[in-house]
Amino acid sequence: MSTHAEIKKWTLPALAAAKREGRRLVMLTAYDHGFARAADLNGVDLVLVGDSLGMVVQGRGSTLPVTVADMTYHTEVVARGLQRAMLVSDLPFQSDATPERALQASIALLQAGAEMVKLEGAGHKLEVIRFLAERDIPVCSHLGLTPQSVLKLGGYKVQGRDEQAAAQLRADAAAVAEAGASLLVLECVPSTLAAAITSASAIPTIGIGAGPGCDGQVLVLHDLLGLDSGHRKPKFVKDFLAQGGSVAGAIAAYAAAVRDGSFPDAEHSY
Ligand code: KIV
Repeated sequence: MSTHAEIKKWTLPALAAAKREGRRLVMLTAYDHGFARAADLNGVDLVLVGDSLGMVVQGRGSTLPVTVADMTYHTEVVARGLQRAMLVSDLPFQSDATPERALQASIALLQAGAEMVKLEGAGHKLEVIRFLAERDIPVCSHLGLTPQSVLKLGGYKVQGRDEQAAAQLRADAAAVAEAGASLLVLECVPSTLAAAITSASAIPTIGIGAGPGCDGQVLVLHDLLGLDSGHRKPKFVKDFLAQGGSVAGAIAAYAAAVRDGSFPDAEHSY
């Protein structure tokens, strides 16, 4: 068994081993070289170039305007800051609408330095996940609140609250793993449901607003640093800068809190 400190480079087998051995995973978004390096040096295992960059970097109202070119550019500059962490990049809005489109977008992201692509949803996306995974492209699935579906969902709301929606989420989580996803992000899901999905799941789960029962946690960098993005602050957000005292200290405090299970707590969960 390797401890986190002994892991020189995060890989798919290392992620699978962390799940088997019950070691919690720390994920954080980054969008440029300097913050990527700070994450890499301060205990972050997975760096996500999220399409949240549309909101926190570009100042847009949603993630929908983000393009493959945007994601490729930010993936490339983030990749230069990483040595140890695994780099995951989002497939932006509708770039994964068909298996072929998703393959082209994934090639661009992997050639820019991504080591895994993240895509939202199940349903017709199962075919996309299978298509990519069969072509040796590691896939992270994203379920629960899927921000690219904000128009259909009618806002950024907690998902899986009633029994029918919870059952659908449990079925989707099993289906994405069966289709070949290697990692599963659960966003804005009640803690008890996320914990049940995690214990049934063969692949690691990473929560954001999904309580302490996931295998790991992700936060948006700007939220961890207490920056006001101009959008309503969700309940799961915690400013670690006050306690950390510096960017490096805030990231290290976040990583330590995820690993020792003190974050997220009930105050930051649904
Ligand atoms: O785009 C993003 O930053 C994300 C995280 C919120 C999980 O998808």
